[in-house]
Amino acid sequence: MKRIGILTSGGDAPGMNACIRAVVRNVLDNGMESIGIKRGYTGLIEGDMVALDRKSVANVIHRGGTMLETSRCPEFTTPEGRAKAIKALKEAEIDGLVLLGGDGTFRGGALLANECSVSISGVPTTIDNDVYGTDYTVGFDTAVNTALEAIDRIRDTALSHERLFFVEVMGHHTGFIALESGIAGGAEETITPETGNTDDLWTRLRESFEHGKKSAIVVVAEGDQPGHTFAIAQEAKDKLKIESRVCILGHVQRGGSPTAHDRVLASNLGSAAVSALLKGKSGYMVGQVKNEIVYTALAHTWGKKKALSTRLEELASLLSA
Ligand code: F6P
Repeated sequence: MKRIGILTSGGDAPGMNACIRAVVRNVLDNGMESIGIKRGYTGLIEGDMVALDRKSVANVIHRGGTMLETSRCPEFTTPEGRAKAIKALKEAEIDGLVLLGGDGTFRGGALLANECSVSISGVPTTIDNDVYGTDYTVGFDTAVNTALEAIDRIRDTALSHERLFFVEVMGHHTGFIALESGIAGGAEETITPETGNTDDLWTRLRESFEHGKKSAIVVVAEGDQPGHTFAIAQEAKDKLKIESRVCILGHVQRGGSPTAHDRVLASNLGSAAVSALLKGKSGYMVGQVKNEIVYTALAHTWGKKKALSTRLEELASLLSA
């Protein structure tokens, strides 16, 4: 193997730059060349590439976003789109590819692996943490801490005004960010797509207000309907006759300097992805489970469902009052 390409695809995640840095340095240390592919699969289709040396990844470990830029690329889901990408890979003489992204990225990667001889390694980078085969994805810890900072600030104003607040956090199909930021922020309630319904919520909130509670924070995962928290707040008004406020955290959670945890995870997985290619492993995502590097076939990363921790769900419910 002589030349390794790297791309970032899908939603950006804090720690992607730390990961790119680790990939590039491990590639160079093994006497190979490193090629950055710009704007995810879009740049791959267009052959938008740049050579990366040790210096080009200096001073990026602390930066959010992705220095290679990213995209969601519907064209790559078509055989024609992938044929263009394969042509570009051939022309650039790339024989190994490291993909940074989430389930959408790995779906594309699995298709590509079946259609060409380039070896492929994936690294899970998404704030949602919804990838099977790793305890944590790169960017999740930073997003949780960003959400937590916001929840702490909201608690100040919620207490001052004796208000009920609904705070909507990201998490496309899953409630990982909601659950952890909810526990860390002492949320009175947490609503996730997994637990979903709000049937008991109104009873519990009514009881706690009747018992003297003057303010409360309910953390809501956006699920597949960003902004649906406004409808929940309306329900609160109808059912509890309580005025509330809604705060949608949105893309604030995607940016910012990665936490130490995310930088270490990103560095470890980025380096491991290159080592996997060198060991002849292709078509796998490298993840970290119980502090060990594990390999998961790309198809399993979205084909198998990563469940929320039942223990943490029980904890959230035990500690909310
Ligand atoms: O990267 C994951 C994620 O942030 C989800 O939590 C969210 O639903 C989605 O991406 C938003 O995507 P976009 O930035 O394309 O609006």
